Amino acid sequence: MAVERTLSIIKPDAVEKGAIGSILATFEAAGLRPLAIKMVRLTELQARGFYAVHKERPFFASLVQFMTSGPVVVSVLEGEAAIARHRELMGATDPTKAAPGTVRAQWATDIERNAVHGSDAPETARVEISYFFDATQIQGPVEALA
Ligand code: CMP
Repeated sequence: MAVERTLSIIKPDAVEKGAIGSILATFEAAGLRPLAIKMVRLTELQARGFYAVHKERPFFASLVQFMTSGPVVVSVLEGEAAIARHRELMGATDPTKAAPGTVRAQWATDIERNAVHGSDAPETARVEISYFFDATQIQGPVEALA
């Protein structure tokens, strides 16, 4: 297995519920080490850009409105097979289908307000990480950033 990095977002619903600490603790306990963390309030433009791949979907406008409705906590997590591990810990996008004990089963409200986001593949992770963080804001050896 390879060491990977993934982008993780704790969404406005989970921040509002006071779940930041619990969710980060779940990721850390599973061996995902934070290399960068920040709390931001996304602008409409930033949210539209981040979710541009979904711009034709019927839920796009509502998703952008939700993602800009309050602060989010964005982090870079590193670990063995971090992308798959993080997705496993999050659970299914639709919380009614998320396995018991997963972050979404515990904290999500519905399929849109689903508590967390995680990158779905190495290339997506690279793009999503650089959307929020400069290389100098990420802990770790410089050569690992290449
Ligand atoms: P995320 O993993 O961040 O990726 C895209 C997001 O779009 C997803 O989580 C949900 O917040 C939202 N989403 C996906 N499918 C639907 C849907 N059918 N209805 C509303 N929102 C959705």
